[in-house]
Amino acid sequence: MARLSKPATDSVRRAESTPQSMIELRGLVKRFSNAAGEFTVLKGVDLTIKRGEFVSIVGKSGSGKSTLLNMVTGIDHPTEGRVVVNGTDIYTGVSESQRSKWRGKNLGIVFQFFQLLPMLTLLENVMLSMDYVDMYDFDERPARAMELLKLVGLEKFANKLPVLVSTGQQQLAAIARAMACDPPLLVADEPTGNLDSRSADTIIQLFEGFVSQGKTIVMVTHDPSLTSRTHRNIVISDGELIDETISRSLPQLRHRHMLEFTKLVEEQVYQPHETIISRNQSVDYFFMIRRGEVDVILQDRKKNDYVISRLQPNEFFGEIELLRGGKSIANVRAGDKPVEVLALHHSDFLRVINESPITAEAIGRIVQKRLEQKRVDDQRAENRKKDNHASKMA
Ligand SMILES: Nc1ncnc2c1ncn2[C@@H]1O[C@H](COP(=O)(O)OP(=O)(O)OP(=O)(O)O)[C@@H](O)[C@H]1O
Ligand SMILES: [Mg+2]
Repeated sequence: MARLSKPATDSVRRAESTPQSMIELRGLVKRFSNAAGEFTVLKGVDLTIKRGEFVSIVGKSGSGKSTLLNMVTGIDHPTEGRVVVNGTDIYTGVSESQRSKWRGKNLGIVFQFFQLLPMLTLLENVMLSMDYVDMYDFDERPARAMELLKLVGLEKFANKLPVLVSTGQQQLAAIARAMACDPPLLVADEPTGNLDSRSADTIIQLFEGFVSQGKTIVMVTHDPSLTSRTHRNIVISDGELIDETISRSLPQLRHRHMLEFTKLVEEQVYQPHETIISRNQSVDYFFMIRRGEVDVILQDRKKNDYVISRLQPNEFFGEIELLRGGKSIANVRAGDKPVEVLALHHSDFLRVINESPITAEAIGRIVQKRLEQKRVDDQRAENRKKDNHASKMA
């Protein structure tokens, strides 16, 4: 039998303290007060980011992305909750000046509008971050700063003021500055938001290079072409994180619906080869695969089972029966390893699908494709039977 548990997001489950994690956020709440009163921007965020991960964060304007990053960098402080970065609990028992020093050694920060000092050359801007931290001897700083500018392709512009280079080049210089003290973690808030697509691409390539050297990068972006190049994409909606299995399985869904699903799903675990849906039984749930593989099994006319498809993590099943009504046309069972799925009750699934024509259409296309596949497979089985029959007669 499947083990049922309460709704749980990926992030909640993974929020264990492990030596591999670079960032751990636990129960993070941020409230701001203004003339109209108090309002909550982050509503209990749990998130673990492992070392070496390249993570993008997306969400509508005002959903809390920058506020979340500011909690990680120590630029602002949470109202409640814990933030552990690179093994340091950065708000408990740490003074503001200790935090600044810690930040200089552990973090590179890149903003949308570069924030280079306008009266300093690019080289001086990069050296300035080394001055704060005191990790490198005074004499070696210019050569190191030059190395970094070379890395981002700006050595020829080292002695120019920011205003004399393009915006893309200013951002590259800002990245060189962020990496000046060789931090293990780079945090970037819309680093390509103000750039053309070619400059944006240069920056992402640079980030990919850092990640391949073992750095961890967390980047807020609005650009879907960039999120596809990161290992993980975290969606934030109105101060809450969306389950990553849901956002990947149903990317067309509106964020508020993803969040609704996140709160409604139950996690189920199936052992290898255990049945999840039985043929000819009614289907009560829509399933999304979190871990493991799932086999969809049909029967030919001789009642022999055959696997029509093997579904992977972030794929879904159960939708054909829910959308068309009726009983299951297939057996669905766990593959050779244990399977974790998120199950959403059909009433919740249908309610949201009815409110979201784009998702209904996208799922409808997958249903058509799967039914077509079934028709082709049935036809093949039929032809095989005829061939066998013919060869026996000959
Ligand atoms: N220092 C502050 N004081 C009061 N309210 C704030 C403060 N900083 C952010 N907020 C509010 O918190 C909410 C979330 O802001 P945040 O900047 O985190 O959003 P965002 O997701 O980064 O948006 P954008 O995509 O526009 O950058 C907004 O309603 C914003 O007005
Ligand atoms: Mg922002």
